[in-house]
Formats: sequence, structure tokens, C-alpha cells
Amino acid sequence: MLNAKMEKALNEQVNWELYSSYFYLSMSSYFESISLPGCAAWMKAQAQEELFHAIKLYGFINERGGRAIMEAIGKPPSEWDSPLAVFEDVLAHEQKVTGLINDLVNLALDERDHASNIFLQWFVSEQVEEEASVGGVLDKFRLIGDDKGGLFAMDQELGQRVFTPPAK
Ligand code: FEO
Repeated sequence: MLNAKMEKALNEQVNWELYSSYFYLSMSSYFESISLPGCAAWMKAQAQEELFHAIKLYGFINERGGRAIMEAIGKPPSEWDSPLAVFEDVLAHEQKVTGLINDLVNLALDERDHASNIFLQWFVSEQVEEEASVGGVLDKFRLIGDDKGGLFAMDQELGQRVFTPPAK
């Protein structure tokens, strides 16, 4: 059974994950508007991944005898100065989420909630992958600079991404 403190904190994370999904969907739409369909597809896959994270947390809260509550989702930004600026925002956002996951793990340890701690380890590993993946994309955008050909190639490459839900 989840205690009230842990239940509240996990619910806040559900909201963050839903906001993340919304945030990336907004970025996807921005990329559609500047004719970079590959970047838009990458962001749409990212949005789906975040929704999966939210539902994974939702399932755990309910499984542990708590109740997942759907709070209002904040309004994400909708305009950026460049593709590079978008990916800089993605990395900053993922770093913020990593901090939130670490806080949740610390809370689980403080509350001696071993089940939550084990469950959250999946998210700890996921954040390492997310930061590495976005960091890699960001490095390439920095290398490309103002090169239009490079941007076109990058858009093609990012368009290959599809979201496949993990087995569990
Ligand atoms: Fe759900 Fe991108 O962290």
C-alpha cells in the first residue's frame, strides 16, 4: 500500500510526464510548421514515449492501492527560434525530469518504500538513455550550424524514429 506522501509525489510525476508529452507534441507541431517532417516525427514518437511513462506510473499507483488523479496540464511553449533551440529545450527538460525522478527515489528510500524504489529504477535507467539520446542529437545540430544540406539530412535521419512500447 502506498503511503499518502508517496502517492502524492507519484501523482505529481504523472502530471509531469503528461506535460512532457504535451511539450513534445507542441514541438512536433512547430517542426511541421517549418517543414521539417522528420523532426516532427521524432517529437511525436517522444510524445508517445512520455504518455507511456505517465500510464506506467498510473498503473503502479493503482496497483499499490492508491488512486491516480488527473490534474490540469500546463500550457507548453509553442514557438522557438531554431531547431537547435528546440533540442536545447528538450535536453534541459529531460535534465529537470531526471532530477524529479531522483527526488522520487530519495523519497521512496526515506519512506522505506522498497516496492516504489524498485519500480522507479526503471525510470532512472530510462533517464540516462533519454539524456544520452537527446545529447547526441543536439551535438549533431551544433555541428550542422547553418548548413541547409546538413539540416535536410538530419531531418531525414530523425524521421526514422518510431515509438515501440517496451515489453514491460
Ligand atoms: Fe518521461 Fe522524458 O522522461
